[in-house]
Amino acid sequence: MSTVIETKDLCKTYIVNKQSNNVLQNVNFSVEEGEFVTVMGPSGSGKSTLLYAVSGMDNVTAGSVFFDGEEITSMKDKQLINLRLLKMGFVFQQMYMMKKLSIIDNIILPGFQAKIRPREEIRKDAEDLMRKLGIIDEADREITEVSGGQLQRACLCRALINHPKVIFADEPTGALNSKASGEVMDRLLEANRMGTTILMVTHSERVASISDRIIYLVDGNIQGELHLGKMKDDDLSGRERKVRNWLGEMGW
Ligand SMILES: Nc1ncnc2c1ncn2[C@@H]1O[C@H](COP(=O)(O)OP(=O)(O)OP(=O)(O)O)[C@@H](O)[C@H]1O
Ligand SMILES: [Mg+2]
Repeated sequence: MSTVIETKDLCKTYIVNKQSNNVLQNVNFSVEEGEFVTVMGPSGSGKSTLLYAVSGMDNVTAGSVFFDGEEITSMKDKQLINLRLLKMGFVFQQMYMMKKLSIIDNIILPGFQAKIRPREEIRKDAEDLMRKLGIIDEADREITEVSGGQLQRACLCRALINHPKVIFADEPTGALNSKASGEVMDRLLEANRMGTTILMVTHSERVASISDRIIYLVDGNIQGELHLGKMKDDDLSGRERKVRNWLGEMGW
């Protein structure tokens, strides 16, 4: 197995009103190819910041990030944009959808931009994904004409369209009821079973329990890790109990 994400003494400091806030403090961690890793921790502990840093969405203050063997912290913008387009998929809290495009056009856009597959194939893929996530009827709507939950599922479809190596998901079920959450969890698991590496943030014990490993972040430091191993089909409630007990020990 090879390492697909690795950080070395990663630090991120925000300066607001001349006060510096050390949001990530010498974070060292790695994710192996095919792993499904969740980051948990209190609000403000740096989870989103960590996802932004390791996916090259934001610069870092010190230390380095390696993605698929390449150091991205010193990469040129153009190279990074290309790497993100071809190898990463994103489901983030702010969803960055294009306002002028319909839902389906937003989903297929990165597919067209990548220029590696025929357009008809990408469109068919998009329709299949939307059908599985229960938003096919919303395909031609504008992004302002659908609910937050539908938009979030559209984001997951868009993240999957180029069959990325890694999916970064920041609270992918944050706006969803339990049925829609279940659909998103199923799609993430399915993508992971097909070999996609996943790095996710969630506040939900249930959602976290489908992952292989959980990292607990407090004040930008890794406080603990729980190894769950690969999810089997009938095991969710047992795993959820394990996660809840462990989180209790972590002071959640
Ligand atoms: N762009 C920014 N400028 C200044 N400070 C920021 C910025 N983004 C985040 N922060 C600060 O960094 C800290 C960590 O924020 P982050 O969004 O990573 O937390 P989080 O763990 O994702 O929290 P939540 O669970 O609420 O989403 C917070 O104190 C936040 O106020
Ligand atoms: Mg966050």
